[in-house]
Amino acid sequence: MDERSELHAPARARGRLRVLYTAEEIRARTARLADEIRPYYEGKNPLLLGVLKGSFIFLADLARALAIPLEVDFVQLASYGDGTESSGFVRFIHDVERPMAGRHVLVVEDIVDTGTTLAFLLGTLASRQAASVRVVSLLDKPGRRVNQVQVDFAGFTVENLFVVGYGMDHAEAYRHLPDICALEEV
Ligand code: IMP
Ligand code: MG
Repeated sequence: MDERSELHAPARARGRLRVLYTAEEIRARTARLADEIRPYYEGKNPLLLGVLKGSFIFLADLARALAIPLEVDFVQLASYGDGTESSGFVRFIHDVERPMAGRHVLVVEDIVDTGTTLAFLLGTLASRQAASVRVVSLLDKPGRRVNQVQVDFAGFTVENLFVVGYGMDHAEAYRHLPDICALEEV
């Protein structure tokens, strides 16, 4: 058994995980996304604003793929309980450390689903006088939108699946998986 099948083994044994995008596919897509994003930010020292916790691995890889001077900060918002459906209620658990007035802000999301979380965050940022605010999301589920939010850069578009791995969780499990997997009902 190779290292990767070992990581997936406990869930796969219950027939619950299906690989959607391999680590190599994610790496290649992130490199292309970085090429698309870089021209907007060269010489601007952008602030990559990661939305915890799901974006932590994507942000780490995207920051290195961008390979330009930038800064990193995080917010943590909660909209989900331990289920797979949004509660529709969003609150701050952690806010940024430094003011973002005059900064070029790139919000880094793992996945935009109903858009509730992002709509709340963008609404909050609107009063903070950033020079610009754009959004990159590794995954986009446009079919699930309740709040119409603009995702400026999207890695992959997925159907109405619940996904885990590469930072994303279900009840805090599976974040360590190197691939993006669909979590299927048993
Ligand atoms: P939204 O508010 O419905 O757009 O989703 C907010 C957050 O819920 C996303 O940023 C993710 O962190 C999480 N989320 C949404 N869909 C999924 C999923 O399929 N798997 C894991 N987390 C998800
Ligand atoms: Mg998220």
